[in-house]
Amino acid sequence: MYKINSNFQKLPGSYLFSDIARKVAAFAEANPQADIIRLGIGDVTRPLTPTIIKAMHDAVDEMGTEEGFHGYAPDLGYDFLRDAIAGEYKDRGVDVSADEIFVSDGAKSDSAAIQELFSQDTRIAVTDPVYPVYVDSNVMAGRCGNWDAKKEQWSDIIYLPVTAENDFVPEFPSQIPDVVYLCLPNNPTGTTLTKDQLQDWVDWANRNGVLIIFDAAYEAYISQPDVPHSIYECRGARACAIELRSFSKNAGFTGVRLGFTVLPRDIVQGGISLHDMWARRHGTKFNGAPYITQRAGQAVYSDQGQREIRELVAYYMKNAKIIHDGLAEAGFEVYGGVNAPYIWLKAPGNMSSWDFFDYLLREVNIVGTPGSGFGPSGEHYFRLTAFGSYENTLRAVERIGKMKV
Ligand code: MLT
Repeated sequence: MYKINSNFQKLPGSYLFSDIARKVAAFAEANPQADIIRLGIGDVTRPLTPTIIKAMHDAVDEMGTEEGFHGYAPDLGYDFLRDAIAGEYKDRGVDVSADEIFVSDGAKSDSAAIQELFSQDTRIAVTDPVYPVYVDSNVMAGRCGNWDAKKEQWSDIIYLPVTAENDFVPEFPSQIPDVVYLCLPNNPTGTTLTKDQLQDWVDWANRNGVLIIFDAAYEAYISQPDVPHSIYECRGARACAIELRSFSKNAGFTGVRLGFTVLPRDIVQGGISLHDMWARRHGTKFNGAPYITQRAGQAVYSDQGQREIRELVAYYMKNAKIIHDGLAEAGFEVYGGVNAPYIWLKAPGNMSSWDFFDYLLREVNIVGTPGSGFGPSGEHYFRLTAFGSYENTLRAVERIGKMKV
C-alpha cells in the first residue's frame, strides 16, 4: 500500500490566494449586482507590449517552418536569452555570467523548488509577513516542524518580524539559520532595504555561513537610487546569495510564464557546487521554457522593449501613488508603494486583517489581501495592489475614502 507525504496534512487551510478567490467567488454569486474591484492578488492587468507581441508572433511563424522549428529547449535556457540577461547585469556593473543564469517558467516555481538543494534538517528563516510559497514549499518537504495554531507559526522556522515598529527592516536573529529568504522590494509590505542595509545582510551571511535566497521579482519598481536592483551589487554576495527574477511584474508575463535564477559558481558547500546541483536538478525535472516565451523574454531586453516596459511600470506606479496618497489623506496609516507595486496599510480601528477584508468586500466591493495571510506579524495590516487599471484604482480609492469605519 502506498503512503502519502504526510507533510501536506500539516499545512493549515489552502494556499492564501486560493482561499481569497473562493471567498470572492461566493460573494459575487450571492451579490450578482456588486461591482467588484479586485486589488487582491498581484496579477497584472495591462496587455503585453507591441515589441513583445511581435517577437512572439515571429517565433510562432518560425515554429511553423522546417528550418525554424524548435523542439525541446536547452534545459538551462537559450543562449540568446541568457546572454541578454547577463548583458543587463553587466550594464549595472554586476558580475554575473550567462552560464550562471537558469531560465525557468517563473520565479514562483523556482522559489518553491530551490529548497530541494538543502538537507532535511536545514533551518530556514523568513521575514514575517512573507510570501507564503517559501514557507509552504519547505513544509511540504518536511522541514518546518509542527504548526502552532495559536502562534500561527511553524516550530522549526526562524521568523524575522517586519512591522512599522522596526521600519520594516528585519533584525538579525539570535539563532543562526542555514538559509534565509529575503524578498526585496518586499511582497507583501511594499517596503525595501537600502544598499547599505542589504550589505549588512550579505556580510552577516558570509560571517555565519548562511545562504540568502534573494527574490528580486519586483526590482523594476525601484524608484530610489540607494535601493539595489540585485543583491550582487553588494560585496561578497556571489559567495552567499542565489537571486530569483521574474518577467511577470516588469513585463506582464503572469500568463506567459518566464523567470530565471542566478546561481553563481562561487557558492560551494563542502566542496560541492550548488550551481552544478541546480543544473542537475533543472536537467532532470525541467524541459526548458518554451522557445516562443524565451523569444518574448529576449524582446524585453531590446531598447524598444525596455522603453515599453518602463511605461508599463510607470502606469502601475501611478496607481501605487494614487492608492498611497489617497489612503493617507483619508487617514489610513500606509506604507510601501514607492519602490514596489504594493501598498501596505493598517486596518482601521484595530480591526483584524480578515475582518477588514470582509468589511471592504461587503461595504465597498473591494478585494484586497489580509496581512495576516502572510504571517502573524501581518495581523491588522492589509495589502492592496497597484496592478489594477487606472480607472478602477481611482474608483477604489474614492470608495475607501468615503467609508465610515
Ligand atoms: C501576490 O499576490 O503575492 C503575487 O501574485 C504572488 C505571486 O507572484 O505568485
